Formats: sequence, C-alpha cells, structure tokens
Amino acid sequence: MGQAGVRPVPLLALKFLIAAACLGSSAALNNGLALTPQMGYAPWNAFGVNVNETLIKETADRLISTGLAELGYTYLAVDDAWAEKERVDGRMVGNKQTFPSGMKALGDYIHDKGLLFGIYSDAGTHTCDGYPGSIGFEKEDAEDFASWGVDYLKYDNCYCNPEDPVEGRYAAMRDALNATGRPILYAMVSRGMRPLSGAALLQVGNSWRTTADIAPNWDAMLRCLDNTVGLSRFAGPGHWNDPDMLEVGVGMSLPEQRSHFALWALLKAPLIIGADLRRIDDEALGILKARELVAVNQDGLGVAGDLLWKEGPLEVYGAPISGGARAVILFNRHTPFPLASKITVNWHQLGYPAEFKATVRDLYAEKDLGVYQEHFTATVDPHDVCAVLITPHIALPYFDKWRPWHRSTASTENAANIEIA
Ligand SMILES: *[C@@H]1O[C@H](CO)[C@@H](O)[C@H](O)[C@H]1NC(C)=O
Ligand SMILES: *[C@@H]1O[C@H](CO)[C@@H](O)[C@H](O)[C@H]1NC(C)=O
Repeated sequence: MGQAGVRPVPLLALKFLIAAACLGSSAALNNGLALTPQMGYAPWNAFGVNVNETLIKETADRLISTGLAELGYTYLAVDDAWAEKERVDGRMVGNKQTFPSGMKALGDYIHDKGLLFGIYSDAGTHTCDGYPGSIGFEKEDAEDFASWGVDYLKYDNCYCNPEDPVEGRYAAMRDALNATGRPILYAMVSRGMRPLSGAALLQVGNSWRTTADIAPNWDAMLRCLDNTVGLSRFAGPGHWNDPDMLEVGVGMSLPEQRSHFALWALLKAPLIIGADLRRIDDEALGILKARELVAVNQDGLGVAGDLLWKEGPLEVYGAPISGGARAVILFNRHTPFPLASKITVNWHQLGYPAEFKATVRDLYAEKDLGVYQEHFTATVDPHDVCAVLITPHIALPYFDKWRPWHRSTASTENAANIEIA
C-alpha cells in the first residue's frame, strides 16, 4: 500500500530474526494453510483504490479463462478500498457504490468459480487509504469475514500507534481468525514497523512482508529482492517471506519481468498477480504461466532459495528441490545496457561433488540444455536471468538436506552487505 517512503526492514530486524534461527517449525502458525506459498490475484498494483465488484468478477472469469487458476493462482483478493468509510453499527460493510451486492455475494461468486476469496484490513484504526481498520474490532471483523466466506486476509499496518507492540496487534487478529473456526490464510504486511522477534513472526502469520511496497520499476523490484536476501532460513511450510506482489504485466521490460518472476518463484514468495487480467499481453501472461517456475515455487520440500554468490552486478541464487535437484538463477543486474555477461554456478556451491554429472534444464524454455560436470555457465543479457533446474544423475540422500544458507563466508558477507544497503 502506497508508503513509498517507508524504510526497508532495518538491520536490527535481521538481528532479531537471526537470534531465533534455531526455532523449530512446530512453533509456526498452525492453521493448516500455505504449506506452499500462496498463489493468486490482488488488484492493488494495477488499480489501487479504483476497484469494484464488476472488476473482481471479471478477474475471476479471467483467472479461469487464461488457465491461471488451473496453474494454482486460486486466491482472489480485494485489496484496500472495498469498505464503507465508516462502520455501520460497529461492523465493516462493503462499499455501497462500488460493491453494491455486498461482500458475501462476491464471496459466493468467487467460490462458485472454484476460487478462494481474499479480503483486506489493517492492524490500526484505519487502512492506508482511510477505510476502517480492525484494531479493537478483531473479533467482530474476523466473524464477519468468516460469515462472508473469506479464505485469506491481507492485514496492513497503517494508522498504528508506533509504541503499540506489533506482536500483540497481529496476534489479536490471528487469534480472532482462529476463533471463527474457518481456516483463513493470514498474510501480514509487516514492513516499516518495529521488528517482530523471529519467534513471534513464525507464530503469527502465514507470510510477512520483508519490504516496503513494490512499484512497477526495476529499482523497486531490486529493493524488494535485496531486502529479502538472507532471510530464507525463516521461511518454510505455513510461513513465508513476502517481498510483495507481482508487477509482471504492470510495468518493466520483458527481461526485467522474467527476472522478477523467476526470483520470486525461487525465494518462495507468495505469487500474487497484480496486472489487469482483462488486458494483459501474451508475453506477460506467458511469464506468469511458466509452469516449471511455478513448480519450483510450489515444490514440496518447501525450502526458500537465497543468494549464493555475488560479484558486482552478477548474482547466483539457488534453492533445493525435492529429489536432490537445485533450482538456480543466474542474474545479471548490470546497468547500463548492453553488457551481456557470463555467469557460472559451481557444483560445490550447490552441495554436489564436482565430478557428478547433472542435467541442466532451462525453466522458461522448458527444454534440457545438456549434461554438465563441475559447473554450468551461461551468457545472460543485462537485467535478465537464466533460470535452470540442475538434476544430478545420482541423487545422494543428503542432497535434500543442503540449504542455501550453508554457504561460504564470502557469500554470506555479500548477503550482509546487500541487506545493509
Ligand atoms: C486454531 O489453532 C489451533 C492451535 O494452533 C489449531 O490446531 C487449529 O487448527 C486452528 N484452527 C483454525 C481454524 O485455524
Ligand atoms: C470498475 O473498476 C474498473 C477498474 O478501475 C473500471 O475500469 C471500471 O469502469 C469500473 N466499473 C464500474 C462499473 O464502476
């Protein structure tokens, strides 16, 4: 939500997070949801506050007709500005002009399409755009959401008392949602606020924002990426890092959109489409429908990828994939144009013996590039990625245990530098 001036997660937050690194996943929020990162749609990036029930219904239809729903994009969420500006008898109600049929009817429409219904509120007195917030009304609002058939809540952090501990405000809604008995995915927008301790973070939400808002441009996308690097160890089934919603089909060049989507898939970010699906072009739609990248995001091992290596503008990201494989992204951030660069990933960076043979497959092209030993090198255009799956011909049992945060000191320092920047 439009708070471009909010600082990225400060280093202090990372220290809190790192202190809780040995916490078991049993402490995570236990609502049975988001065992893989949530996928779906929210209109904010394309429409801001200019939303209405016609748009949401047309988007539901488009999610089906484009094949996106079939690929897993099933949460259809209204973002801010769905409500009346004032509560009616203490309850939040759908805006009478823009959502005249009411939120229950909208939920029914969405469910009839086989999709899931998402809604938005705020852990303060008002939402970022001045609609009612839920603080002090958690019980009433959670009950209303449940009665409308809500399956997903994005919970923002505007109009809050900065002295008010975040843990308490976010936990109050977690508990109110739980008390309804309806499983409701809980997506926290926890940027720009006092850091949650790592332990609290894991227990409170199914996802938490790692950054201020994204915008449809290269610099904003990189800021969201860089603020999420180094946090992979805190993600896992039921609880994910959220670098914010997708700008694919909203802005940026095609290579930039390809980079954005591949990186978000590998970070195990929630994949929430933000484009106008009534008008999206075929190239952008093709990126969102890159099924082998979606498969990386939704892989059952549930381990988030992270930065493995960096030298200047050249970066290598990796994630373990069930069965001993690795998803790897070779990323060329080089500006200005037009410097294509060779980028290499070495097997030792992926926890493989150098002599092992592995098949390398291009995840966007959906074709095998060949069999490699010791390393794989690609020439990558500026602002573009080479996204591959590396599958060793012999998978040793310990290959699944490799984690992207088990990396060399040098690359850890690189990650730390990025986080401070
Ligand atoms: C509520 O929380 C309990 C304890 O963590 C959990 O077992 C249960 O599944 C939760 N219910 C819902 C609807 O989230
Ligand atoms: C609904 O919102 C969309 C997107 O802002 C707009 O194009 C459309 O005209 C609106 N429709 C109605 C009926 O208000």
